[in-house]
Amino acid sequence: MSYNSSEMKKILFIFSTTDGHTHKITQSVAAGFADECDTTLKKVDDTTVEDLNLHHHIVIGASIRYGNHQPKLMRFIKDNRDVLVSKNAAFFSVNAVARKTEKNRPNTNPYVQKFIKKTGWSPKEVDVFAGVIDYPKYHFIDKHMIKFIMWITGGPTDTNGTFEFTDWQRVKEFTKKLKASFSKE
Ligand SMILES: Cc1cc2nc3c(=O)[nH]c(=O)nc-3n(C[C@H](O)[C@H](O)[C@H](O)COP(=O)(O)O)c2cc1C
Repeated sequence: MSYNSSEMKKILFIFSTTDGHTHKITQSVAAGFADECDTTLKKVDDTTVEDLNLHHHIVIGASIRYGNHQPKLMRFIKDNRDVLVSKNAAFFSVNAVARKTEKNRPNTNPYVQKFIKKTGWSPKEVDVFAGVIDYPKYHFIDKHMIKFIMWITGGPTDTNGTFEFTDWQRVKEFTKKLKASFSKE
């Protein structure tokens, strides 16, 4: 799309979430742009190609469940890869493994690496944030599966607890980086 410099930049934030935490992180990133840009948040399921074309910049956030980003998200990326590349879209992943220092950077987080390999898209701006383990929210099977995974990986196993691992300072730093990157284009 052609961009008139007197017009407010339009930024589309697309999120893929199961329990809402990626939505919360997306809201936080979008809030950092609200003063200077026209921001829109959309679930990946509700996003069309036209939405992509109508925005100057795109930021996509997606969470992991049982080792994968949602199939709908992966399909969306593959179907729209060219436009995402042409708009220099940004991406972040949310998962529990990122709570570990040695797995909390894009180049050390297995899910970000798998995402890049599977989609063939390596976003210029990419990050990973640790999510939340919210046992009371989970159904029986998920609760016990997560408890088992946490037990193996040295995480919290108290099924009455909610454990947020997100480093909100990291989210702020990512927002700052995105602002600098988008302002150049
Ligand atoms: C059923 C279930 C499966 C999960 N599987 C994984 C996993 O395989 N690897 C991981 O790092 N995190 C896993 N997580 C942690 C989620 O990625 C984390 O809870 C995240 O905050 C979820 O974000 P959302 O609320 O946006 O869906 C799982 C969480 C749940 C509830």
